[in-house]
Amino acid sequence: MIVGVPQETFPGEDRVALVPAILPALAKVKLDVIVEAGAGVAAGYPDAAYVDKGARIVADRAELFRAADIVLQVRGYGANQEAGRADLELMRKGQLLVAFLDPLSEPEAVKPLAERNVTTLSMELIPRITRAQSMDALSSMATISGYKAVLIAASALPKMFPMLMTAAGTITPAKVFVIGAGVAGLQAIATARRLGAVVQAYDVRPAVKEQVQSVGATFVELPLEATQAEDKGGYAKAMDEAFYERQRQMMSRVVAENDVVICTAAIPGKKAPRLITAEMVEGMMPGSVIVDLAAETGGNCELTCAGETKEINGVTIIGPVNLPASIPFHASQMYAKNISTLLLHLMTKEGELKLDVTDEIVAGTLLTCDGQIVHSRVRELLSMSPLSSTTLS
Ligand code: NAI
Repeated sequence: MIVGVPQETFPGEDRVALVPAILPALAKVKLDVIVEAGAGVAAGYPDAAYVDKGARIVADRAELFRAADIVLQVRGYGANQEAGRADLELMRKGQLLVAFLDPLSEPEAVKPLAERNVTTLSMELIPRITRAQSMDALSSMATISGYKAVLIAASALPKMFPMLMTAAGTITPAKVFVIGAGVAGLQAIATARRLGAVVQAYDVRPAVKEQVQSVGATFVELPLEATQAEDKGGYAKAMDEAFYERQRQMMSRVVAENDVVICTAAIPGKKAPRLITAEMVEGMMPGSVIVDLAAETGGNCELTCAGETKEINGVTIIGPVNLPASIPFHASQMYAKNISTLLLHLMTKEGELKLDVTDEIVAGTLLTCDGQIVHSRVRELLSMSPLSSTTLS
């Protein structure tokens, strides 16, 4: 079978879905790879590196889509609404597309994929189970975002992070507060610690306290009734406005006494909780920095604008978007490992693709199949009735 890797078309998207080092593992299950000319260049993987590992370079995008049985992208249609629309025309019945497709935020975009009879697997929907850890692209990308958020904060802060004892006097370390200690938050803590900052962190899920401490931060204890804050899958649940109001009141002092606040709080499939008000920003010292990783889902800070940097009362508020694309070499390496592990999971030794819908990983990620939207959560979002299990072949 032929695996096609097109060039990404989302503005500023420098990642690529496969890196050359992965190709030998795919060849073992008889998967030949074709790559659109220049697809890996922005990430640091020239065409020649793919050719060295046995790929064929295709200059014409339409030709790549025609030839490929399986298309691997970073951002497929849904996660690339405007530029990605053109690819819909190029896709055909029975073709498999694996990519970030953003189906929980953009469920309408799943419809044309089903209409074109394309089989799609969404990388956002990989279940967070041990067996699927090496396929978990959300975690890989969150790791990169957490790391980069700290670098952005460090360069915007008019102070240094580490404590330094110099002949010119002692420099006190910067103070960093990380809100949300999921994958991105824990990496932000670790990165800020490596740079020498004193780090505090808070998460609504009390279970993460030990993880926060293990990467070198102090866990901020807020006397909030957060025992119901975690769902069965280990994710935070959306709380009511009264809870967030209490949380904001209790966090004000902590926000005010830190030089940097890194916001990573998120609720899967929902708008980010509002945790920092304009009034709380007013209470911060001039020169302080907020980096809001929740910018793309509305921001944890009410003053955040996605993709912009603002200065309000001397406080710099940064709302970065698509941070993993800003470290494209390693983001592509990690994503390629995740997506190829999923692909290999679907292949038989004989080189055939087998979508076993009784498998938790397939059932969790399969969006469209046989011309239908099959993912129950996406059907719910589209107000479609549930499919009976016999409808799926
Ligand atoms: P996420 O990106 O959805 O959320 C980030 C963090 O924000 C979470 O830790 C959440 O508890 C926190 N948060 C939500 N509301 C908050 C509030 N009001 N105040 C403070 N913090 C708030 O989460 P992410 O990073 O994708 O993963 C979260 C959890 O998922 C992990 O801790 C783990 O339990 C689970 N997970 C499991 C994996 C596996 O088993 N393979 C892999 C990765 C994550």
